[in-house]
Amino acid sequence: MTQPISDQQIAQAVQILRDGGTVAMPTETVYGLAADALNPQAVERVFQIKGRPLNHPVIVHLAEPRQISDWAEDIHPDVWKLLDAFSPGPLTLILQKKANIPTVITAGQDTVGLRIPDHPVAQQLLRAFGGGLAAPSANRFTRVSPTQANDVQTDLGNDVEMILDGGPCPVGIESTIVDFTQVPPAILRLGAVTAEQIESVLGYQISLENVARTASPGQHRRHYAIPAEIRITEADLLVDAATMAAAQGQRTLILAQLPRPSALHQSVAWWQLPDELPELARVIYQTFREADRHEFELILICLPEETGIGAAIIDRIQRASYRPD
Ligand code: TXA
Ligand code: MG
Repeated sequence: MTQPISDQQIAQAVQILRDGGTVAMPTETVYGLAADALNPQAVERVFQIKGRPLNHPVIVHLAEPRQISDWAEDIHPDVWKLLDAFSPGPLTLILQKKANIPTVITAGQDTVGLRIPDHPVAQQLLRAFGGGLAAPSANRFTRVSPTQANDVQTDLGNDVEMILDGGPCPVGIESTIVDFTQVPPAILRLGAVTAEQIESVLGYQISLENVARTASPGQHRRHYAIPAEIRITEADLLVDAATMAAAQGQRTLILAQLPRPSALHQSVAWWQLPDELPELARVIYQTFREADRHEFELILICLPEETGIGAAIIDRIQRASYRPD
């Protein structure tokens, strides 16, 4: 459940932002590390805190769809259709940027990512602040995004001046990114707003691949990661794979939407994942963090169905499991 924040805390957060500081804010997807989007030094500080390379653009968060035209130009009419349907919500649009936008936000590109978050605390903060807030996920570079205020505290500690605790994020994985600077528009990152939902609003097919190769660093293969090896495993191979790993002395955890089978060796941990996909999305990063706290060395995970938000969950699991050879 989302948690209310006092007007006094919001006023304090706004002051920090106006002074060029950083504030962690809850959104419906994940916690973001926010800074005044028009203050290049403040945005650079966000990169520094995250340990994020400067060639990764950040998303600008706005209170309302109509503010989009302060940040972007050549806005295709279909953009407004999508905004009508899905904003505020877990959707980021890549558009041609206006000239006045600091290049640190866009990593030197001529496009900008814009999103209107649907979280009461993010909305409260954005309205009180008035302008745009640049906010990447509030985690260290390549690590699992934070979905609770505690996660931000663990990852960034005192580097961030204030953490607004809005409770656990209701969506749990990052927004869908749609690039409107290519024709047809392309999904650069899967999320809770699905390709089918977008296509049904637009009335035509969009691209599921980044055909125009829009630079979207941050979409690299290893991401959302924890130290344990995460290995995607078919359901009927789980027991054998776990037994073998346990025999080699590896601290092993199985994550599957199935109950623990009785045949499983007792040294192997089995955490049953929720059946419902939105619930699974909501807890997946918490599950990875919890597994990390237990210091498992190997996680065998069974992929969920690819329907609805399932496709985005699979994408995140694949990135978390990616190991360069
Ligand atoms: O749900 C979300 O989108 C969260 C919350 C905090 O809003 N934010 C988030 O930000 O996930 P971050 O920085 O962790 O990921 C932003 C992604 C990156 O993959 C980046 O490459 C892409 O958005 N991006 C941002 N601006 C872009 C641009 N102009 N062109 C292409 N990709 C862009
Ligand atoms: Mg991120």
